[in-house]
Amino acid sequence: DIYGQQRRNSRGPNIEIACEWEPFRDKINQWLDHQWQGGPIINGQRVETGHLFEVKAPYDRRHHTGQVHFADADLVAQAIQTASEGFTDWHATPVGIRTQALMRLGDLLEENLEELVALCHQEAGKTIQDSIDEVREAVDFCRYYAIQANELFSAPLKRTLADGQNHTLIRDGRGVFVCISPWNFPLAIFLGQITAALATGNTVVAKPAEQTSLIACRAIELMLAAGVPGSAIQLLPGTGAEVGAPLTGDPRIAGVAFTGSTETARLINRTLAARDCAPVPLIAETGGQNAMIIDSTSLPEQVVQDAVQSAFASAGQRCSALRVLCVQKDIADRVIDLLKGAMAELKTGNPCLHSTDVGPVIDADAQKGLLSYVEQMKSHAKLLAQTALHEDAEQGTFVPPSAFEIDSIERLGREQFGPIMHLVRYDARELDKLIDQINRCGYGLTLGIHTRNEGTAAHIESRARVGNTYINRNQVGATVGVQPFGGQGLSGTGPKAGGPHYLLRFTRLQPIAARP
Ligand code: NAD
Ligand code: ALA
Repeated sequence: DIYGQQRRNSRGPNIEIACEWEPFRDKINQWLDHQWQGGPIINGQRVETGHLFEVKAPYDRRHHTGQVHFADADLVAQAIQTASEGFTDWHATPVGIRTQALMRLGDLLEENLEELVALCHQEAGKTIQDSIDEVREAVDFCRYYAIQANELFSAPLKRTLADGQNHTLIRDGRGVFVCISPWNFPLAIFLGQITAALATGNTVVAKPAEQTSLIACRAIELMLAAGVPGSAIQLLPGTGAEVGAPLTGDPRIAGVAFTGSTETARLINRTLAARDCAPVPLIAETGGQNAMIIDSTSLPEQVVQDAVQSAFASAGQRCSALRVLCVQKDIADRVIDLLKGAMAELKTGNPCLHSTDVGPVIDADAQKGLLSYVEQMKSHAKLLAQTALHEDAEQGTFVPPSAFEIDSIERLGREQFGPIMHLVRYDARELDKLIDQINRCGYGLTLGIHTRNEGTAAHIESRARVGNTYINRNQVGATVGVQPFGGQGLSGTGPKAGGPHYLLRFTRLQPIAARP
């Protein structure tokens, strides 16, 4: 219960129960041939630029999902101008009115669950469970940030000191926030950034990942229907080079919320620094090179279930996903045997089927890069297991879940964003050396620990420099309001999304001292 007495996390249907799954599946099926249309939304109006991007389903590239008009340089300037003008009214709007619209958006997302699930599936290639979780997380962000903003803005803090002066702390939005999001959480992260910025009185120019522009467009239509004024939210689908770069280079913006790769975060940092104007905050949530450390007291069956879930669910396309399983030598052979068995049971396929465990990766570029990494690894590491692809796999962008044994964590390079897991054996006497090697990778997002020894868990947890730690469970799927999520080092700047301090970074605090 994250919202106090009244509110709970969004539930969604339980698709493991036939009486909930079957009617839900029938409703989704009605959306599967829908052709969605999307494009920039400026001041509440859809704009057609004629610069069209065709969207195809990642699980079967013959299936046409819809088309999107991409924004151009003129629209970038227009969007920032509209958002700058909109700031005057929006930050003066009482917080209760702002957040009422966001609460209503949460309700509308739930009311449109079937369409959004179908769209997540048809545009992002998500499985049905991942798509449901995507919508639920987006709903949680809307409600959680609305409630947090109400508390934060409810009344200015006032104090009268012995000197007789009245001191007031007033909190306010900063101005126009640019929100740039990735394709792997096309609704949850996209709306999480935007709702945080809007709840705190900023206006927003949002640039979704080019691969998932239709989902973004539908979300903004629902946001407008929920009562957010057109002058407060501008949507600019388009590429990083044509839309993201000019947006972050504009002197009128007051902050950037970015989630994506570490490389792009660096580019944005450089663009912001090159502007000849006031510095602005950058919130960057980036990649990970996440480890799970398991010692000989752990339960191998549980370890393998959690490792497979953490590495291969969502086709490994989670920043939190497990990339390197570190197994104490004494139980390594047993764990590898079980891992081979579990990976042989995994089913790749159409993510709309209940039986599919691993869907496609997002597009042909991602597939090419991952397959080339797998080939390269085959020449200098031991392939422990590889899941066979299903029959029609060549119609989509599938990558077989693969596990390689490597001799040292130091062999890991940059994040491979797909269903590829590495395994390394370690000697119990060298646990600290292992943790230090993990730290030296420079990333610090999630860490899994499997042990029945509480002292070992506490020791690993205190020595490792990561954002989120998970003990004796999987290491993905942080819950809004319960597990604030975000990393350190190459994994991001913080503050943690879905946590009590996230909104503060979107605001400015103005202390006023007055002599009566
Ligand atoms: P990406 O960095 O390629 O793209 C992210 C966004 O940045 C997209 O909207 C893209 O168009 C935009 N962009 C690209 N170049 C830009 C530029 N020069 N200026 C401004 N914007 C630009 O990342 P992706 O492939 O969409 O997402 C996958 C990455 O995101 C992975 O590295 C993953 O670990 C990370 N991620 C992190 C978190 C987290 O919370 N830490 C969550 C999800 C994803
Ligand atoms: N918040 C997402 C997770 O925890 C990235 O998996």
